[in-house]
Amino acid sequence: MLESCRVSSLDAVFSLCANADDLRGRTGRAVGIVGPNPSANGAQNRAWAEALKALGVDAAYLPLDLAPSPDPSAALARLLAAWEPASGLVGLKVAPPYKEACVALRPDAADGAAKRLGCANTLARRDGRTVSANTDGEGMRLHLEESFGPLAGRAILIVGAGGAATGIVDALAASAGRIVIANRTEAKAAALAAFALRNHPAAKISAVSLAGLGAALAGAEVVVNTTSVGRQGPLEGFSALCPTELSPADNAAASALLLDGLKRPIAFASTLYRPERELLLRQAEERGHRVANGLGMWLYQAAAAAKDLLFPDELATVPVGRVAAALRAALEAQETPRPHAH
Ligand SMILES: NC(=O)c1ccc[n+]([C@@H]2O[C@H](COP(=O)([O-])OP(=O)(O)OC[C@H]3O[C@@H](n4cnc5c(N)ncnc54)[C@H](OP(=O)(O)O)[C@@H]3O)[C@@H](O)[C@H]2O)c1
Repeated sequence: MLESCRVSSLDAVFSLCANADDLRGRTGRAVGIVGPNPSANGAQNRAWAEALKALGVDAAYLPLDLAPSPDPSAALARLLAAWEPASGLVGLKVAPPYKEACVALRPDAADGAAKRLGCANTLARRDGRTVSANTDGEGMRLHLEESFGPLAGRAILIVGAGGAATGIVDALAASAGRIVIANRTEAKAAALAAFALRNHPAAKISAVSLAGLGAALAGAEVVVNTTSVGRQGPLEGFSALCPTELSPADNAAASALLLDGLKRPIAFASTLYRPERELLLRQAEERGHRVANGLGMWLYQAAAAAKDLLFPDELATVPVGRVAAALRAALEAQETPRPHAH
């Protein structure tokens, strides 16, 4: 495979990247990760490369740092134009702020979720045409099922109504028994519920404010924090169940009170994994609930992209859980063990 590559074509792609000099020495078949600065995520990039090797896939994983541009769409358009079918670049993982541009630039290439959501996290070449997909929500769905068992018919409380929540609600709508979306800005929760219902008319999806979260929590079997609350930085040490306008101590106490009101053990997941256990997951775990942080979502969105989009032939018979496990093992082998959230 390495011999069949046209490295000169890859050079056309590299020439658009801020880190072109680091890339030019590399040759062969590759997957690129496109973003403002993906080369900063060394552990993540090495994990991808090691996992592909462990799975018997002969391809490098190249961080393509696009030169800063006020127009992400134009920058991505230039990269796509340089990406020739024979270049050796079999596909691209796509980080913000390029996810929407993927679909806007190639609307006909978008698959179901990418088309519905208007943003994609993966682009690939198949039979001479570009296809794009969004595996973020599916990544969380697969992660939840691995961690907590089948979701069919279960009552799910989604905390948050941003980009991550949108993909997750879309992926869960078909199987969940009921979804309640709770968000600080209630209007955004209502808008997300309405959007999801347009795409999944048979689903049961409703919205509440953070003030109404207590009642929704009492009826939930699985709770997913999709907000930034609890994440490393200014919001670390806060629980997403309660307002961050409170002091950290009052937020934690109010969150603990809500959890103390639960009558039976349920499951708590998050999109966050820095820190490894945000306050909400720590509090839930201390009370005997099952918890899973957001690393599994990252692993499974990557595994689904690798299996379904980037290397469908090589990985056709490899279960998606095995691809995710290879990525997890490769990450754990890194000295700096966690990829950056995206
Ligand atoms: N593990 C993974 O693979 C993965 C994938 C995607 C995202 N993520 C992580 O998920 C998190 C959310 O990402 P996103 O793309 O959905 O972001 P986003 O679109 O900006 O949405 C942010 C969400 O957090 C809420 N929020 C922010 N600050 C808040 C505060 N102080 N109090 C209460 N709610 C607050 C927002 O509520 P309002 O609507 O009220 O502003 C909104 O619901 C990020 O930390 C991201 O890194 C992880």
